[in-house]
Amino acid sequence: MADFELAPSLLAADFGYLMRDIDAVANSVKYLHFDVMDGHYVENISFGLPVIKSIRKYTDLKFYTHLMITNPGKYAKAFADAGSDIITFHVECSDDPIALIDEIHSYGCEAGVAIHPDTPIEKILPFADKCELLLVMTVRPGFGGQDFMPESLDRIAAVRKALDETGSTAWLSVDGGINSDTIKTVYDAGARLFVTGSAVFAKEEPGKACSELSACITA
Ligand code: DX5
Ligand code: ZN
Repeated sequence: MADFELAPSLLAADFGYLMRDIDAVANSVKYLHFDVMDGHYVENISFGLPVIKSIRKYTDLKFYTHLMITNPGKYAKAFADAGSDIITFHVECSDDPIALIDEIHSYGCEAGVAIHPDTPIEKILPFADKCELLLVMTVRPGFGGQDFMPESLDRIAAVRKALDETGSTAWLSVDGGINSDTIKTVYDAGARLFVTGSAVFAKEEPGKACSELSACITA
């Protein structure tokens, strides 16, 4: 049994054919990653609640929502109601991450805490045994198709150590620049839930791309 999962990021899909692209990976993965961007916390604007709510009607995949927005607490309930299974917010955007984790749990969702590459990794370690997912950004949040930041490897290893020391079974997720060149090294550093956008949806056959990425680890 593999001890890792892929979470294809729809940011790299064709927004005119979202269900076609989701169907292309549906038999290869368990998670779908939704990048919600507000134009404030990050430069870019992507999509939001109505898109998630609509897609929820057509697939049972686990929805891993990544809120790149200021004031995530204001919208946590709405993203839960829209059908998110995991709601991940940035530690930089919350004054009280523990309270927000508790609130997300109260909606029946799993909670994730994400960290920007510029933020000291110590900021996320206190949540190792408080939530279901820690997301170490491996590019600057805001855009797909960027190169993996190699300095992330030490940060991933530090989070892995904190999770193991606390006995936490939370996912150690990574996001940005994950492809066939980087995924094995990142796995070896301790990551287990791999968000991957362009390495899946920019390919001719997204389902096959998922199998090939997995094979980079298991081969
Ligand atoms: C970037 C997003 C990522 C993005 C990853 O801010 O959080 O999820 O879609 O894209 P790739 O895999 O192309 O780097
Ligand atoms: Zn993301």
